[in-house]
Amino acid sequence: MIKAPKHISSIQPYQPGKPIEELERELGITDSVKLASNENPVGPSPRAVKELQKNLADLNRYPDGSCYYLRSALAKKLRVKQGSLIFGNGSNEIIELAVRTFISSGDQAIMAHPSFVVYSTIVQAAKGKSVVVPLKDMKHDLKTMASKITKKTKMIFIANPNNPTGTINTKKEMDAFMKKVPDGVLVVVDEAYYEYVESRDYPDSMNYLKKGRDILILRTFSKIYGLAALRIGYGISTAGIVEEMNKIRQPFNVNTLSQKAALAALKDDKHLKKANSVNHKGKKYLYKELDKLNIKYIPTEANFIFMLLGNESAPKLYKSLLKQGVIIRPMGPAAARVTIGLPAENKRFIEALKKTK
Ligand SMILES: Cc1ncc(COP(=O)(O)O)c(C=O)c1O
Repeated sequence: MIKAPKHISSIQPYQPGKPIEELERELGITDSVKLASNENPVGPSPRAVKELQKNLADLNRYPDGSCYYLRSALAKKLRVKQGSLIFGNGSNEIIELAVRTFISSGDQAIMAHPSFVVYSTIVQAAKGKSVVVPLKDMKHDLKTMASKITKKTKMIFIANPNNPTGTINTKKEMDAFMKKVPDGVLVVVDEAYYEYVESRDYPDSMNYLKKGRDILILRTFSKIYGLAALRIGYGISTAGIVEEMNKIRQPFNVNTLSQKAALAALKDDKHLKKANSVNHKGKKYLYKELDKLNIKYIPTEANFIFMLLGNESAPKLYKSLLKQGVIIRPMGPAAARVTIGLPAENKRFIEALKKTK
């Protein structure tokens, strides 16, 4: 049998969860609550759904490879040039395009741990080396990350807010960090949860772009816009960086329905506000209930909460909640992440948690 090269065969594959229907069948239940993947519990924008229904008859045509209408609308909204935008099959694809464009054998990428797991896998697939810096006080340790920059460093990943901790690095921290990053190192600021952030200290990363820095900002329609199933995200960068990444992008990487739905969702401020309000109220409710249960957690700027559990108790908690039809994400032996759901879902989670304690 043909063998994959070592840098591929040694990758730890992503473990997909079972389809929810299958899980429910196994558990003998029908009303499970999925709080494991940081999706928007409110659902997609009704305007996006309508747009999808309207365009179903055109599936025989290839999509618009330039995402023309979505690009125009987003460029206007963000006040950037159209050439500063690149669209992908989820922001995941933009991460992949950036790595494949700028990292070759032996190059280094600096990233935090724990953070979004995809970065290191993609770097490894490109024969690059991940330089991993542990979080400090549950946040990216930007000082140490900057100190790890060498001539081999091509890229630095900063998830802001970070997944799984929900923490942000402040404007002050980012400003100090950016001063230490030399030209020729691409700073990838992953802002998948940008729209949820409430802190006034959150940096406006577009300012670095305006100054002409080598920066790639990632955003997505999978989270607050509620379109995770459609797989559409985007990057904002300099025209030069986008131009290079476009050279290896598949011409039709974003499908027609995704483009149409994203454009409609982008215009649906009402839906965005509703999602934000549900998240804010759910956050406050969960804080209150977790406090009552004496469960430690990290205050979040996103749509999920990182809980600090006792040693070895996360897998047990996960299994116990699962049996009660509540799905969360264990994070190693002593922590777990729960997505903020609808009020009834949050309540189900808390009730199940009480039965476990
Ligand atoms: C920090 C972060 N970045 C990127 C993504 C990928 O999002 P998508 O590919 O759906 O746009 C996620 C998804 O969970 C995430 O948590």
